[in-house]
Amino acid sequence: MVHFKVNGREQTFDGDPEMPLLWYLRDVLGLTGTKFGCGMGLCGACTVLQNGKAIRSCQKQMGTAAGLEITTIEAISANGPHAVQKAWAEVNVPQCGYCQPGQIMQAVSLLSSKPKPTDDDIDDGMAGNICRCGTYQRIRAAIHAAAKEMA
Ligand code: FES
Ligand code: FES
Repeated sequence: MVHFKVNGREQTFDGDPEMPLLWYLRDVLGLTGTKFGCGMGLCGACTVLQNGKAIRSCQKQMGTAAGLEITTIEAISANGPHAVQKAWAEVNVPQCGYCQPGQIMQAVSLLSSKPKPTDDDIDDGMAGNICRCGTYQRIRAAIHAAAKEMA
């Protein structure tokens, strides 16, 4: 039996230990804000936070989740929109929107380790999150705006 937390709530799991966390979040808990893209750790659509750091939930097996604190995009706006979400709206980042929950979670993780990121920090930190619509310039602008707001 695996005990862990998702968005601050205790969860237990005794199913297939190789089940991806992404399936558990979407299919068991109904937290569909986290998206399935490549399923191979290559696109970042499935990004969530594990103890505050961005991970790819498609690559995280349930058997290795014991004791972890997982945070999905549903939780970051529990007390109103997160500064990153506000910046995303101000800059009007999304195009189709599919990659954006993962982008936002990656940005939240980046800003927690680098509160004043440079362009290079942003490019490095966000490099694993693919946007087929090419919103990278607006993502960069929104991260700078969020950093100012959070300072
Ligand atoms: S769906 Fe997980 S990285 Fe693409
Ligand atoms: S906004 Fe369409 S994939 Fe990024």
